[in-house]
Amino acid sequence: LITKRFASLTFAAIQSSVITITNTLLDIASSPDPQAILETMRAEILSDISSNPSQPPWDKAVLARLRHVDSAIRESMRLNGFVARGIMKTVMAPGGITLWDGTHLPKGAKVGIQAYSVHRDEDFYPNAQTYQPFRFVSPPHSRRPDQETDTAIASGSDTESLHLSCTPSKLTVDSTASISSGRKKPLALVTTSPTFLAFSHGPNACPGRFFAANQMKLTLAHIALYYDIEPLPQRPESRWFVGSLGPPFDVMVRVRRRRA
Ligand code: HEM
Repeated sequence: LITKRFASLTFAAIQSSVITITNTLLDIASSPDPQAILETMRAEILSDISSNPSQPPWDKAVLARLRHVDSAIRESMRLNGFVARGIMKTVMAPGGITLWDGTHLPKGAKVGIQAYSVHRDEDFYPNAQTYQPFRFVSPPHSRRPDQETDTAIASGSDTESLHLSCTPSKLTVDSTASISSGRKKPLALVTTSPTFLAFSHGPNACPGRFFAANQMKLTLAHIALYYDIEPLPQRPESRWFVGSLGPPFDVMVRVRRRRA
């Protein structure tokens, strides 16, 4: 029993981050100008290091300030995240439950939300099919659920405080509690919301995401600082396996170590 639990935790903790950082590299390499993306992240890292010379390199505070690096990963998780189904739940009520439209879900039925479609919905993400690495650095102020909350990377907020209510005709988002100031702040990689489900959302959202985010940001920041990436002519197509979406296994990305 213990081995079984460790096996699934190992998958949750290691493969998920490997898949995500691989996807991010593929997204960057197949963007129109990978060099410009790397240079923006490089400039961000170097300016942080030079303006805080006494700080220990790569501590949590430094990572929290790397907004472009953070956004490049979040945007890849939006467009090519491996979690295609979000907030999976099992009906526990002995008699099942009946939804507003009469659909009956028996005890034991599994329900969830199609994260893939939500992440590619133009209503929430303009140019939803395009990888825009710095989309979340300064999201335009709007009343859309994923873009309206004052959630700063440095503030450490990890969920958006939206009030959802489901009516027969639509899902409404009452954001009055969170929209008060209208300031534009970045949406952090770890911030979950009804429209960003890569780590799921709600009480059972991934508890390892804070660790994973720092690990992936360290990796991407290191690559941006020390390597150039050869552009790919097109984004290698992801593959479906067991309801999840993963990068292909046979793609080569050529990198070159930068001269100091
Ligand atoms: C990019 C990396 C990761 C992604 C995309 C990811 C995604 C997810 C998702 C979608 C869930 C399901 C939540 C739900 O049931 O609604 C989950 C759960 C979980 N994750 Fe992660 N995860 C990542 C990294 C990690 C790491 C590094 C750890 C541990 C160090 C971890 C530990 C867990 C655990 C223990 C759960 C179960 C939580 C529960 O059932 O309450 N994950 N993760």
